[in-house]
Amino acid sequence: MEDAQRVTKDMIKKCLVALGIVEGDLVFFHSSLKSIGHVEGGADAVIDAFLETLGKSGTLVLPALCAYDCKTGADWDKISREEIENAWDIKTTPTFTGLIPETLRKRVGTIRSDNPTHSVTAVGRYASEITKDHKKAHGGEWAANRPKWASRGAFGENSPWDKLYTLDAKYMLIGVDFNSCTMLHHVQMVLLEKYLRKIDGNAPWPIFDFRQIGRKLEALGIVRFGKIGCAVTRLMSCRSLVDMAIKVLRP
Ligand SMILES: CC(C)(COP(=O)(O)OP(=O)(O)OC[C@H]1O[C@@H](n2cnc3c(N)ncnc32)[C@H](O)[C@@H]1OP(=O)(O)O)[C@@H](O)C(=O)NCCC(=O)NCCS
Repeated sequence: MEDAQRVTKDMIKKCLVALGIVEGDLVFFHSSLKSIGHVEGGADAVIDAFLETLGKSGTLVLPALCAYDCKTGADWDKISREEIENAWDIKTTPTFTGLIPETLRKRVGTIRSDNPTHSVTAVGRYASEITKDHKKAHGGEWAANRPKWASRGAFGENSPWDKLYTLDAKYMLIGVDFNSCTMLHHVQMVLLEKYLRKIDGNAPWPIFDFRQIGRKLEALGIVRFGKIGCAVTRLMSCRSLVDMAIKVLRP
């Protein structure tokens, strides 16, 4: 960390402009703070760089996923679906998705969606619309072998993931690769509901290699590469990401 390049909020703002982020945009990202360099002001500076670039008319949405029972520390593999749901507390359950989303989650004025496994946290123009009614979302519950980490309605119709698609968010991977791309779980759900259900009413949850699909999407030219500080950053349209992944994966 001592050897890491010093990165300021203004430097991050310049990187965002160079990537094509403009005022009014709706942006979602997965991140590694450390990969950016030594950020003066830490996670808050990264969040502020985004919020100042997006302005009042913009929206920032970050993953606020939870992967363990924060009350007992038990691993999801070792607890039941019901225990996972009971352990969830929208106000206090931390996210494992990194210091940047965890910092945004704790900020006053941020809204979090209500889902025990795949919540998002958001601020700005579309924050309320994107986070509302996550509890009422549905899709893929019928699938055989639905993994325990995919709670009821996590990625279904009307979930925040569905709304990020509909509103065509700018989807970014900052210092991380497609293995962190939760939107590909939404793709799994769309595949189930739109294609696999027709073939076999009891189809299993579709499994594929996220990194391999990522490489295919890059080869198809939908990913713009840039840097945030030192972090290799991928940027893509959420609609292109979902539509192209489905094109590649659909039966
Ligand atoms: C797991 C993951 C978060 C780890 O990334 P990371 O950069 O090590 O961790 P965070 O983003 O939480 O940042 C904390 C790190 O930044 C360091 N840090 C602290 N202050 C800092 C600063 N001012 N500038 C830069 N780094 C700083 C911390 O020391 C810590 O590193 P350490 O654990 O080596 O001590 C990341 O690899 C990842 O997978 N991100 C995506 C997660 C996700 O969205 N997943 C969704 C589907 S599974």
